Amino acid sequence: MGTEAAANKDQANGLRTLNKNKPVQVVAVTAGKGGVGKTNISVNLAIALSKQDKNVLLLDADLALANIDILLGIHPRKNLLDVLEQRCSLEDIIIDGPCNVKVIPSSTGTEMMANLNAQEHAGIIQAFSDLTIPIDTLIIDTAAGISETVMNFTQTAHKVLVVVCDEPTSITDAYALIKVMSHEYGIHNFEIVTNMVRNKIEGMELFHKLVRVSDRFLDVHLEHLGSVSYDDYLKKAVKHQRAVVDEYPSAKSASEFRAVAKKMLSWEVSGEMTGNMGFFMERLAKQNAADAKGTDDNEVNRE
Ligand SMILES: Nc1ncnc2c1ncn2[C@@H]1O[C@H](COP(=O)(O)OP(=O)(O)OP(=O)(O)O)[C@@H](O)[C@H]1O
Ligand SMILES: [Mg+2]
Repeated sequence: MGTEAAANKDQANGLRTLNKNKPVQVVAVTAGKGGVGKTNISVNLAIALSKQDKNVLLLDADLALANIDILLGIHPRKNLLDVLEQRCSLEDIIIDGPCNVKVIPSSTGTEMMANLNAQEHAGIIQAFSDLTIPIDTLIIDTAAGISETVMNFTQTAHKVLVVVCDEPTSITDAYALIKVMSHEYGIHNFEIVTNMVRNKIEGMELFHKLVRVSDRFLDVHLEHLGSVSYDDYLKKAVKHQRAVVDEYPSAKSASEFRAVAKKMLSWEVSGEMTGNMGFFMERLAKQNAADAKGTDDNEVNRE
């Protein structure tokens, strides 16, 4: 491995070993389509894990339309843009969210943040290695769709959650995202969260729809991490700028979030770099800004 590649490898490892020698579980929350519940899922899982004594860091990686702060009713004065422009360190922008969850806010409506190049992403990722606060889990709430930004963050994760709901566009777009991640980024394992379902059976059926088409056309393995019901209490909590697990702990969706979080606790934490990471580093080194947008989602429509 050349010196540059070795340096890049060290940089990316920063995300996975935030607390120096202790490996950190990195989880990216993605979806092919906007508005399917990524931010609600990120926030509620973060709080549910924190309530189970995990030190959780929540990264708002929706760099153009940050919304974790809005959802949690917190008011960051500084954000990732300040770190990128070297006005402060990453640690300076971390704020305390509910239930001890630490939040890294993004900036809203900044064109520059939406179009970071690979080097700038590497800068953000590098900044993680300097953190001294104890962290067990890093949850990354990504923007919708298949952009270079989403992929750069997603490739640093041990686990990729894909949120899907029972609408044709959500399924088609989730499939398209999984296809690009596996074909172009070497990610083959996905944890599916079925959201806004009416009941568990509907969640299972939705998951199996995605499995059927993926098994037929892709070399991937999907796990059903869990279902979250459509829940008016979740909506009510959003209006109060609170997470449902915090505001209405006995709501149906809150107990479902806790069940998903419990499953996550059983995941093995590894500080090792995976094939995905190696791939990520290669891309950083090459500054490859390939546009992944030309995805053909016709297979789903043929299904
Ligand atoms: N399980 C649920 N029950 C009821 N409403 C829900 C549920 N999950 C999400 N919603 C609603 O769907 C909307 C979108 O949710 P959220 O902001 O979490 O999605 P997103 O995928 O992060 O969107 P974006 O792509 O814009 O970032 C919100 O108004 C939220 O209240
Ligand atoms: Mg969101």
